[in-house]
Amino acid sequence: MNFELKPLSFASACNEKCDALIVLVPQDFKATRDDVSELVAQALKSGHLESKPGKILALYRPVQVNAVQVILAGMGDGDARQVRTALFSAMGGLKTRVTKKVTVCFACPAREEAVRACVIAVADATYVYTHTKSKPQGRTVQKVTVCATNAAEVSVSFDRAVATVAGVELAKEWANRPANYATPTLLAQAAQELAKSPKISCEVLGPKEVAKLGMGAFLAVAQGSDQPLRFVVLRYSGAAKTRAPTVLVGKGITFDSGGISIKPAPEMDEMKFDMSGAASVIGLFKSLSILKPAINVVGLIPTCENLINGSAVKPGDVVTSMSGQTIEILNTDAEGRLVLCDALTYAERFKPAAVIDIATLTGACVVALGAVRSGLFSTNDELANALFAAGQASQDVCWRMPLDEDYADGLKTNFADVANVAGRAGGAITAAKFLQRFTEKFPWAHLDIAGTAWKGGTAKGATGRPVALLVEYLMTQSSAK
Ligand code: BES
Ligand code: MN
Ligand code: ZN
Repeated sequence: MNFELKPLSFASACNEKCDALIVLVPQDFKATRDDVSELVAQALKSGHLESKPGKILALYRPVQVNAVQVILAGMGDGDARQVRTALFSAMGGLKTRVTKKVTVCFACPAREEAVRACVIAVADATYVYTHTKSKPQGRTVQKVTVCATNAAEVSVSFDRAVATVAGVELAKEWANRPANYATPTLLAQAAQELAKSPKISCEVLGPKEVAKLGMGAFLAVAQGSDQPLRFVVLRYSGAAKTRAPTVLVGKGITFDSGGISIKPAPEMDEMKFDMSGAASVIGLFKSLSILKPAINVVGLIPTCENLINGSAVKPGDVVTSMSGQTIEILNTDAEGRLVLCDALTYAERFKPAAVIDIATLTGACVVALGAVRSGLFSTNDELANALFAAGQASQDVCWRMPLDEDYADGLKTNFADVANVAGRAGGAITAAKFLQRFTEKFPWAHLDIAGTAWKGGTAKGATGRPVALLVEYLMTQSSAK
């Protein structure tokens, strides 16, 4: 999809030739002297249109406008959330099958957050998955023109939003692909594709190299599957080599059956989404390739299947992680932390400014925070605050959770340095406490996206979260120095 920002007033936006014109009407709408704004004012006055977000009024070929369909959409006071609601209603009111070119116009000066929300919402509302359909019917909307009188003021936000959409959509694409179309090998190839962009390089390690590194925890998860594991090292070099990179680690379990501690059958298909953390890293690199900020970023993706062949790891097995710590695997379904802990140890070699891991780690996090906020855990207040703020700014929100040492008590065992599970209580936190043991050498944060990375039910599909949060965080870092 192609986005364009034009410095057009409401009146001139009405002359744009397009299939659909969406007019975002604020609660304090003031009519200018043109016909269309007169029309809007009348509709508001008569009550046919309300300025509340979600309320729309649809018109067909009104003579004053050059568009086939016009949707007047209330957007309240025009904050990001309201703009999103407004656009979802407006897009829902369109005959999308015959709508190729859409113009969105702010009937007032546009706020930066509103422009960003507008771009992201239009993309979200029109995304269609097609990869495994025999007769693909992709998205019909091809071109979106956003009109704002103050275009120059909001162009940085606009460009960032367009780059975010590219990253979000790549993340959605890979997270949505079924596990037989998104094996560790294929996922690594997707990462390698990104290295075609200047400033990005990609190295992919296989089982032999990973064994040589001593990643015993990662290997233990992978050993139950016939698909060979991959360890992906992506590098984006936008600044001098001397500048410490931010390292992002994405959980890449392409299918999580639970292993010998097998999961129940209902909804097990959704465990194809268990590589959403990895997909978000891939998506983020796509955004970086467009935005080209002056920073260094490393993306690490440990990827394998958690399956059950004759050599699968068994409850009670003890393995030695790359850090040297031994781990008793009491539950083979707590595999995410096992692949992540070795990747976190590997991250040390980059002498990172910060390490952020992103993982669909625990069902307990879904219970705690639902589908609204991702779980944020961090040993560093500055990093935690910056990630929280990036979440708020990008509408890709998270919530900080505690890491008190007492939560680690349940991970004690008689047979190794640490067990991979504690009891049921506080499961998202005990998982984070496990990871924390491998992060002593750098500022660290962990995002548990189990509840936010995909939707179930009839709307089943990946959300592309937390790409928007990560783009916002890294762009803020790049302009800070
Ligand atoms: N991938 C799952 C976490 C998950 C579960 C994400 C449901 C989204 C929805 C993870 O590997 C897992 O199985 N975690 C276990 C941990 C438990 C065994 C301590 C869980 O959450 O049940
Ligand atoms: Mn699991
Ligand atoms: Zn998992």
